[in-house]
Amino acid sequence: EGTLTVKELAEELEIEANDLMTKLINLGIMAMINQELTMEQMENIAAEYGYQIKEEENTDDEDNIYGLVNDIEDKEEDLELRPPVITVMGHVDHGKTTLLDAIRETEVTAGEAGGITQHIGAYQVDVDGQKITFLDTPGHEAFTSMRARGAQATDIAILVVAADDGIMPQTIEAINHAKSAGVPIIVAVNKIDRPNAQPDRVKQELTEHGLVPEEWGGNTICVNVSALKKENLDELLEMIVLTAEMEELKANPNRAANGVIIEAELDRGRGPVATVLVNNGTLKVGDAIVAGVASGRVRAMVNDRGERLEEAGPATPVEVLGLSDVPNAGDLLEAVEDDQSARGVAQKRKDKKRADELTRNTTVNLDDLFSQI
Ligand code: GTP
Ligand code: MG
Repeated sequence: EGTLTVKELAEELEIEANDLMTKLINLGIMAMINQELTMEQMENIAAEYGYQIKEEENTDDEDNIYGLVNDIEDKEEDLELRPPVITVMGHVDHGKTTLLDAIRETEVTAGEAGGITQHIGAYQVDVDGQKITFLDTPGHEAFTSMRARGAQATDIAILVVAADDGIMPQTIEAINHAKSAGVPIIVAVNKIDRPNAQPDRVKQELTEHGLVPEEWGGNTICVNVSALKKENLDELLEMIVLTAEMEELKANPNRAANGVIIEAELDRGRGPVATVLVNNGTLKVGDAIVAGVASGRVRAMVNDRGERLEEAGPATPVEVLGLSDVPNAGDLLEAVEDDQSARGVAQKRKDKKRADELTRNTTVNLDDLFSQI
């Protein structure tokens, strides 16, 4: 199990089976075309062709075991409009956090502004009665793991590109993540206040990556902004609201909650604290919950303004207290019937994890067996 025949290996490497057999002979291995190779032989050959064998990361089984246990399908009539979830992505230092801070300061009403005490990488603003949820840190790493776990937590990606720096490696990475998740991209061309800003050059570069600005006849919305000077943020927010309206995002607030862990840490005073984005349902204080291998009961919830909440509906980011352990970013969280089932699910995952660790290195995932060095 986990190894390939000569023929299969040749196909994976995209070479002729005959060439592979010659190579094998040169390495002192006499093998028939349908003979199964050992892992060691495969590694040696792969290295000859500049590949290395990748260790299995996620078996189907593991996906299942971390999947939702209460994932019942909602009836159409139970669905209600919910706020959009916007993930802000882009290259290091292009201004993601500054942009989010500026949006929050601009939009949070004066009375509430003073109440912002906590930093969590997820928060909600109100634009003329339309709530919008933003995710900042921990950036696109979390975006990837969310996607890997099948939790499509993001509705729209904001790609921040500094006008004085242009498209950089992490910009491209972000574009690829958003594209493969099938999420609409709105580009915020930032730092236009800089004397060396070249927003048109950014747009030219975007075109090279398949994002053609609307004003050039394409369908990518680009907004020139300055996060620092708070310039043009209203237009950006308007574009977000318009895009979200077209998506008609819905959820069922009247069911047991599920969501995704955005970040989590062990707080000395409060124990494990997890920032959760509720995807569906309503999370309530007192709910029995499970997230990855952690379980517990919601002891308290705090929003991004430091206010205590009794309930958190769809697309609401909240800090949740009451888990037994610190879950991983990207883990799914859900409310289950009672403490016992929460503990049961968590225990099953722990057992599976241990078993997987014992069998690691002995199996490989055939689909992506090779990764180019
Ligand atoms: P990482 O989280 O490290 O990836 O960076 P980031 O994208 O969150 O960038 P951040 O908001 O931390 O900004 C980086 C630097 O750019 C800071 O010094 C900001 O003050 C500056 N900056 C952000 N936006 C603007 C802008 O619109 N104009 C100017 N001139 N500077 C900006
Ligand atoms: Mg930042």
